[in-house]
Amino acid sequence: MDTQPAQPLLFTPMRLRGVTLPNRLVVPPMAQYSADDGVANDFHLAHYGRFAVGGAGLIFIEATGVTPEGRITNGCLGLWNDQQQRAFEPIARAIKAQGAVPAIQLGHGGRKASMQRPWFGNGPLNDADLARGEKRWQPLGPSAVPLAEGWLVPRQMDADDMARTRKAFADAALRALAAGFEVIEIHMAHGYLLQSFVSPLSNFRTDAYGGSLENRIRFPLEVVDAVRAALPQGTPLFVRISSEDGFEGGWTMDDSVVFARALREHGVDVVDCSSGGNTPRGATNANLQRSPGYQVPFARRIRQEAGVMSEAVGLIRDARFAEQVLQEGGADLVAVGRQFLYEPFWGLHAAHQLGIDPDFTRWPRQYAWWLEKWDKGIRAREAAERRA
Ligand SMILES: Cc1cc2nc3c(=O)[nH]c(=O)nc-3n(C[C@H](O)[C@H](O)[C@H](O)COP(=O)(O)O)c2cc1C
Repeated sequence: MDTQPAQPLLFTPMRLRGVTLPNRLVVPPMAQYSADDGVANDFHLAHYGRFAVGGAGLIFIEATGVTPEGRITNGCLGLWNDQQQRAFEPIARAIKAQGAVPAIQLGHGGRKASMQRPWFGNGPLNDADLARGEKRWQPLGPSAVPLAEGWLVPRQMDADDMARTRKAFADAALRALAAGFEVIEIHMAHGYLLQSFVSPLSNFRTDAYGGSLENRIRFPLEVVDAVRAALPQGTPLFVRISSEDGFEGGWTMDDSVVFARALREHGVDVVDCSSGGNTPRGATNANLQRSPGYQVPFARRIRQEAGVMSEAVGLIRDARFAEQVLQEGGADLVAVGRQFLYEPFWGLHAAHQLGIDPDFTRWPRQYAWWLEKWDKGIRAREAAERRA
């Protein structure tokens, strides 16, 4: 229709290596803590399927452990065996069947592994959790320093642990591709293993992996190299970073710019800009004032100063605001998390709100045929009421 507004950037397709995203709207990884032995189940299929029906272009499966000890909780997904790989297949297929791109975040919990599911306390496992059947295991970290008092003391990783972990990331990436995922993200945020290497709040090593910034980013870059080497050229690789720790003496945004340049040079396509999580105070940056788009300034700096594409996340809930972030160069992609949990058809509603889908053509036709008539009927009745 010629009365339609110009195509919003939010709904403009984007090519990333060999993959075309149908739009620039991302569902970020959101752990559901509902797997058994790392294996996805019917809940995950229903959960992720809703986002695909709901109009997101790129849908990330939550943080998925690359090794058993790399899971954050007993309920976290994993991808180190055939059973786990097979269980992901219907999920990737369901996402793709709706025209969205299936993606997965691969991670390692590091010193925050073996913790409680959030709704049981979000802290270290306690006796009540063990009585409930939760298992405790030995976490790994850059140094034998716990997140805080009362948390498990990680075992300092040695060269063998590092080699095993690099390989586990690469193997999991290959399993992810075999299961049908088309985009891989490496989790380097929120105080988990790879962020705990880069941050001076958690890395006290005196070898080539600690001390200077260059040394602290060495192991995360080796993981990137292992994954990039395993992936075909056409597969986009994302990395999620904690842009800053938000604590005195911690990792800063200036460090992130240096890191993002290195990530780009090592073959990373998009830097997904979150923050915080490397202290027990909050899953993300506890010292950051929460307001709409509160992490957009991080994504803006990364794309401007590191010359790599970036993804913004954090309290982006309104379609016009999401569009504005893209238009103003705040990011290349926008992610909408909790709002998608609350409103799983957010992407379709956003297209409607931006005026590009008055006839419900983006909706599954199973719904569209009815909704288009339903909507016209409602409008006609409202117009008649106004005239009366
Ligand atoms: C239930 C839940 C689980 C989350 N799990 C992950 C995760 O697995 N990996 C990750 O990087 N971030 C995780 N996050 C952070 C989100 O990806 C996102 O960055 C955060 O919710 C802010 O975006 P929002 O305001 O749009 O929700 C989680 C957030 C929520 C609400």
